[in-house]
Amino acid sequence: MANQLLKGKKGIIFGALNDQSIAWKTALKCYEEGAELILTNAPIALRMGEINALAEACGNAPVIPADVSNDDDIKKLFTEAMAHFGGPVDFVLHSVGMSLNIRKGFHYTSLNHEFQHKTLDISAMSLHRVCQVAYEMDAMAEWGSIVALTYIAAQRVFPDYNEMADAKALLESITRSFGYHYGKKKKVRINTISQSPTRTTAGSGVKGFDGFISFAEKMSPLGNASAEDCANYCVSLFSDLTRMVTMQNLFHDGGFSFTGVTQEVIEQMEK
Ligand SMILES: NC(=O)c1ccc[n+]([C@@H]2O[C@H](COP(=O)([O-])OP(=O)(O)OC[C@H]3O[C@@H](n4cnc5c(N)ncnc54)[C@H](O)[C@@H]3O)[C@@H](O)[C@H]2O)c1
Repeated sequence: MANQLLKGKKGIIFGALNDQSIAWKTALKCYEEGAELILTNAPIALRMGEINALAEACGNAPVIPADVSNDDDIKKLFTEAMAHFGGPVDFVLHSVGMSLNIRKGFHYTSLNHEFQHKTLDISAMSLHRVCQVAYEMDAMAEWGSIVALTYIAAQRVFPDYNEMADAKALLESITRSFGYHYGKKKKVRINTISQSPTRTTAGSGVKGFDGFISFAEKMSPLGNASAEDCANYCVSLFSDLTRMVTMQNLFHDGGFSFTGVTQEVIEQMEK
């Protein structure tokens, strides 16, 4: 099925934790489409070693540890990536999210604010950090593409998504603001993909996830978009076929975002 849409392109993939991760599936698709890759994740996530299987499946892609909340780690990552690729980077996938408040079960109305700082830093400011390091080091190729993953809780209330809703709103705002500057400087585009609920480690951490995912399935004319579907969409955004798309939040959700109600939900309510 591969069309070599990314032939000759070089990319960095953040956030492949295990074979459920959206980043994992995206790395495989990018490789299948002809890209050369570098994989990265937080040192603690790499300790589990699962990523080595992905690295092997992606043509022995180097794995470089980087905590997205650490400037030096990100600088080292881009320095090593440029040395490995022998030039600039064509695309970056930011597939990172973490909330200690969710993990520890704190309600939105009684957050631990130290944790909240961490959430905003890791899940949103990290995109700014990655963009700024790349901008300052001139590490992205002209017409390069940066994609981050987000969720519709940035626009509408999903109570159990908790503080991650605020993190995603900031992530989407950084996408627009940095997208302007990077577009002007080097025609680098920056977009977010707003993905359907997907069974992954991060996704399943959200309270009531099973109800959440089946509600979204019933509310989407096409059904929920899978991680594989998301990987394909990422490929299209990294490719030259979407060169004029930037600063956008792109819903990839089977139509959920624009559906008021569906027959299935009405039937459920009438039971
Ligand atoms: N799963 C869903 O339902 C869903 C829906 C919409 C958007 N998203 C977003 O997709 C992205 C990927 O999540 P996923 O669902 O594949 O789950 P995942 O748990 O597989 O991926 C999250 C990744 O973030 C990494 N991470 C956490 N802290 C980090 C740090 N300090 N430095 C570097 N990396 C760090 C983790 O190691 C992990 O690899 C996230 O931004 C998530 O919010 C997920």
